[in-house]
Amino acid sequence: MRLLPALLALAAARTLARAESHWCYEIQAKASGHTCLGPAEWGGDCQKDHQSPVNIITTKALVDKDLGPFSFSGYDKKRKWTVKNNGHSVMMLLGDEARIAEGGLAAQYWAQQLHLHWSEQLDEGSEHSLDGHRSAMEMHIVHEKEKGTSRSEKANQDPKDEIAVLAFLVEEGPKNDGFQPLVEALSDITRPEMSTVMKKNISLLDLLPKEGKLRHYFRYLGSLTTPGCEEMVIWTVFKEPIQLHRDQILAFSEKLYYDSEQKLRMTANVRPLQRLGQRQVFKSQAPGRLLLPLPALLVPTLTYLMAGFLL
Ligand SMILES: *[C@@H]1O[C@H](CO)[C@@H](O)[C@H](O)[C@H]1NC(C)=O
Ligand SMILES: [Zn+2]
Repeated sequence: MRLLPALLALAAARTLARAESHWCYEIQAKASGHTCLGPAEWGGDCQKDHQSPVNIITTKALVDKDLGPFSFSGYDKKRKWTVKNNGHSVMMLLGDEARIAEGGLAAQYWAQQLHLHWSEQLDEGSEHSLDGHRSAMEMHIVHEKEKGTSRSEKANQDPKDEIAVLAFLVEEGPKNDGFQPLVEALSDITRPEMSTVMKKNISLLDLLPKEGKLRHYFRYLGSLTTPGCEEMVIWTVFKEPIQLHRDQILAFSEKLYYDSEQKLRMTANVRPLQRLGQRQVFKSQAPGRLLLPLPALLVPTLTYLMAGFLL
């Protein structure tokens, strides 16, 4: 009987398809008459309770003094990056060129890939929200922990921070020249599995807000926002948004398609908010606190100096 192994293989392939490739966003589930699995039906760890994204209530985030500035290395390397339509987003492959450390992380992390989430509605395109406010887009730079760089043994065995995602919110603003080579590449990758190489060299720093503005961020433990939603992500959500022109933002929805038949434009690739539950969100220390005592110090000093002068 040859049939049984064949049937088993088929069943296994089906299970895999259901678990992996047949997941989709809500907009696709609706358009397809629910032949793919929308967010409420995602498998893997997706229905557990330490999931992402979440709404961050900024006044409830606790200041953590260990959340200092990041050290970015290789983020300044200029490359003609490969970008790909993976059927869910546009993904930029980062090779082994860049890594991050510090920023309250217990290890070094290598950048693997970068991708974005967006919507045609400029207030519905981010996955995380701050005080209920959603941005036009959200960019995720996904990093993997480098083995053996953990500062403590305990952290090494703790899988909750195997992946570090840097999340940048995107808001409408002036034209962003740093982002333009990525925007221009979109026309070459309209359908899933298409990839191309950027026509101009850019660095990761070209895509980010100015490095001096990256000191303010939120931190919590959560998951990947796509199946299987593994709960092993240490999240950093930066307060300072990337600014893109409206046309640059809308290019993502206009150029890319979810499907090879180009029936459904790729938009609203955003997972719904998940419950924060018992988790605590932390924030880096506001530098404004250092400035506050200054006038208080200055006034007595001036009084003293003036008193000395008058005497
Ligand atoms: C531009 O990118 C290419 C391919 O990624 C790379 O080989 C080259 O060194 C880069 N040029 C500059 C000026 O950095
Ligand atoms: Zn993402």
